[in-house]
Amino acid sequence: MENVIEVKHLNKSFGTHEVLKDIDFSVSKGEVVCIIGSSGSGKSTLLRCINLLETPSGGEIIYKGENILDAKHDIYKYRTKLGMVFQQFNLFNNHDVLSNCTVGQIKVLKRSKKEAEEVAMKYLKIVGMDSFINAKPKQLSGGQKQRVAIARALSMEPDVILFDEPTSALDPEMVGEVLKVMKELADTGLTMLVVTHEMGFAKEVSDRVVFMDKGVIAEEGSPDQIFNNPVQERTREFLKRTLKKD
Ligand SMILES: Nc1ncnc2c1ncn2[C@@H]1O[C@H](COP(=O)(O)OP(=O)(O)OP(=O)(O)O)[C@@H](O)[C@H]1O
Ligand SMILES: [Mg+2]
Repeated sequence: MENVIEVKHLNKSFGTHEVLKDIDFSVSKGEVVCIIGSSGSGKSTLLRCINLLETPSGGEIIYKGENILDAKHDIYKYRTKLGMVFQQFNLFNNHDVLSNCTVGQIKVLKRSKKEAEEVAMKYLKIVGMDSFINAKPKQLSGGQKQRVAIARALSMEPDVILFDEPTSALDPEMVGEVLKVMKELADTGLTMLVVTHEMGFAKEVSDRVVFMDKGVIAEEGSPDQIFNNPVQERTREFLKRTLKKD
């Protein structure tokens, strides 16, 4: 399978605190990978290193055969190929829904306003938000805002979308509508890397589950393996703690 992104020996420290330790990891085209693990294990930092919101302290990030951490590489272009969906939506509050989904296309991809609006409408339909194009974010529920944020990411037509706990800021009754959209996207073959505490989603939707613990990938495998037959004691302990809470 063709790798969209491959990470080799990735390290990240904040001062003397080593947060990511020698991470080897890849996502292939069309794959849905869920990252699970305790708070502070380094999940967000890994995503943030992958999209260069943080500068890795060492290692390589290979995209289309090149290490994008090489000084000569065009980081700007690379970043347009990665979509990002955050816990806190990060919508532009002074823009309406449609404009939230077109500004990046117009500014970064240099699409015309007309083309950008057509593309945005296509994805707003997919997430079920096409009837809200004139609404401002403050008029929307959390679940609606997150669906717009997903449409915005899709509108850039990236190679992969990174989700960092997209449902953890939502009221419980809105979690389902966002997970449903994400499941539908997964079924269309979108490449997705999802940090999540939603074990049901990880179990049901992902092709592969990565369990992080204290800055390392402690174990990875199929959802069946990780949830039903984990090899590592720390994976078993994490699952026992987490599934008891649900
Ligand atoms: N900008 C930063 N400066 C200093 N330390 C940081 C910074 N960002 C993260 N850390 C530390 O790195 C470690 C990993 O944090 P990270 O946010 O990646 O964990 P996480 O697995 O995403 O946790 P959570 O499930 O709570 O979101 C934590 O100990 C955190 O305090
Ligand atoms: Mg996090």
